[in-house]
Amino acid sequence: MNKQQLTFPKDFWWGSAWSAEQSEGRGETGKAETVWERWYKEQPYRFYQGISSETTTDHIHRYKEDVQLMKQTGHNSFRVSISWARMFPADGTGEVNPKAIEFYRDLFTEMNKNNIKVFANLYHFDMPAVLQDKGGWESREVVDAYVKFADTCFKEFGDLVYHWFTFNEPLGPILGSYLEDFHYPNIIDFKRGAQATHFTILAHAKAIAAHKKRDLNSKIGVILNLSPTFPRSQNPADVKAAEIADLFYVRSFLDPMVKGRYPEKLVELLREYDQLPSDYTEEDLACIKENTAQILGLNYYEPRRVKARLTAVNPEGPFLPDWFFENHVMPGRRMNEYRGWEIYEKGIHDLCMDIKENYGNIESFISENGMGVANEERFMDETGQVIDDYRIEYVQDHLAYLWKAINDGCNIKGYHLWTFIDCWSWINAYKNRYGLVSLDLPTQKRTIKKSGEFYKQLSDQNGFEY
Ligand code: NOJ
Repeated sequence: MNKQQLTFPKDFWWGSAWSAEQSEGRGETGKAETVWERWYKEQPYRFYQGISSETTTDHIHRYKEDVQLMKQTGHNSFRVSISWARMFPADGTGEVNPKAIEFYRDLFTEMNKNNIKVFANLYHFDMPAVLQDKGGWESREVVDAYVKFADTCFKEFGDLVYHWFTFNEPLGPILGSYLEDFHYPNIIDFKRGAQATHFTILAHAKAIAAHKKRDLNSKIGVILNLSPTFPRSQNPADVKAAEIADLFYVRSFLDPMVKGRYPEKLVELLREYDQLPSDYTEEDLACIKENTAQILGLNYYEPRRVKARLTAVNPEGPFLPDWFFENHVMPGRRMNEYRGWEIYEKGIHDLCMDIKENYGNIESFISENGMGVANEERFMDETGQVIDDYRIEYVQDHLAYLWKAINDGCNIKGYHLWTFIDCWSWINAYKNRYGLVSLDLPTQKRTIKKSGEFYKQLSDQNGFEY
């Protein structure tokens, strides 16, 4: 086939993302203990190679060098998160930390000076432990503390931030804490998870209300991890199971956060199984309706393939969505052999079309997409550069479908890769490397990978030949 140049719209946002807990390191500003630090103290063996979030990319000391690396890898925008625990080191609320303000102002100023737009996200899995002790997202008091944190950020950094986000992947901590077992405090209880979901969505809406009041020159939205969901077969049981999976994993946050209302079918299902949260008010629902996202970040990694479960998983146990279905690996599908996730680039197009057709074509961008690779040092050449042609191919294949989505009328403004410099990844620590820049952990030396060079070219040309 003949190659063609795929050109993206003018001012397209090229960049990447990471988060505070995964990159900053503790530093000397003062910082409250986060749930990740707490969990590590309690169960260090849960973390890959026993490495905690204290061993990160040390961005807090190296941000100036890192901003230069952003430039060298073609970034015109970058997503960071602001650490709640650093901003309010005593108790997660109360007195704000002037040293934290200074750090983030310096970082954002440095980014702006280098023409890198600041995408600031407020919550990326890193609850201050002291607030978790008060019930975390199950507590209205914590919602209020979050809104205070959000509003303080709008006030202190509002002049430097291009776009705000209330949450990154809010489904993650709920899933990990209440349904599965990969997020502190590991409570397996669906109904409590439903409560935490409602309060997370309320916190999002209240932060948007606070942002509106400040009348800043920026938009505010949310970043959601959305997997297009497919039944494993056309068998009616699989089709039904896929609909339920889609309700739980895709619409549960997307509908209230973007459309301002919970999906009726989901509410009916929860009512039928007596799983509705116990604390929700008309006033909450009105606030959610009133304050919806103005911009949407889409994290896309893989599709969900669903198979009906014919026998319930432990009917005596807690109520779980996987009573209804299981996720299924489809034989013959292309996999990321280094990580075990299916690679399905067309999914990015499916997702964008869903947003176009069912969510008012809200202004969106791909806020994460990427390829985690274990033992990536095996792809290093004699100069120490990682020759990651597989990542370049992955990015190109996804971008080609994104380009098609834009040409099909989707309101897509940018593409951010996960991630910039290889960073710490929760319980997986440094198992899978995702960066455009590799990190030698003991020396903290950063080296641009081949994909980082490709990314610079891509951004300079605002497209690529495919
Ligand atoms: C989702 C999350 O936002 C991020 O924190 C995580 O490290 C990446 N995806 C990779 O799994």
